[in-house]
Amino acid sequence: MSLLDGAVEEMLRYEGPVENGTFRFAAEPLEIAGTPIERGDPVMVGLTAADRDGERYPAPDRFDIHRDARGHLAFGHGIHYCLGAPLARLEARTAIGTLLTRAPGLALDGPPGDWLPGMLMRGMRNLPVRW
Ligand code: HEM
Repeated sequence: MSLLDGAVEEMLRYEGPVENGTFRFAAEPLEIAGTPIERGDPVMVGLTAADRDGERYPAPDRFDIHRDARGHLAFGHGIHYCLGAPLARLEARTAIGTLLTRAPGLALDGPPGDWLPGMLMRGMRNLPVRW
């Protein structure tokens, strides 16, 4: 995996744009981490929280483009796994690769702006940079 590919995966893991999956309904009674769930109960998975799970990723709050971030949940999991994931990855690699080629000295220029509030989709309102 190239450094850019790894960086895109780590961006998706570290600050995924989709905070929660859509509701699922338990097909049978089960227990998750000590919490009983009855048949038919709604379950919503916190995708961004799961991607900071320290049992899955060492030092999960560290942004590290060298780590193997594959297996993250930014595109969901299972039968409803994002249909657009290959396109989204291609767009991210193209956009970020082009930006780094055209603005090689790109660097943060102050603290990041606010986050746009949102139950499902999320992102930064602005990110000051200089080059
Ligand atoms: C970075 C960009 C994207 C992210 C993070 C993302 C994330 C997700 C997630 C988490 C789900 C699963 C939701 C769930 O299971 O409850 C999903 C489903 C889906 N995504 Fe994306 N998505 C992205 C881009 C796209 C694009 C570009 C397209 C279409 C061109 C797309 C089309 C879909 C469709 C159709 C589903 C529903 C699949 C199903 O229910 O079987 N997504 N996406």
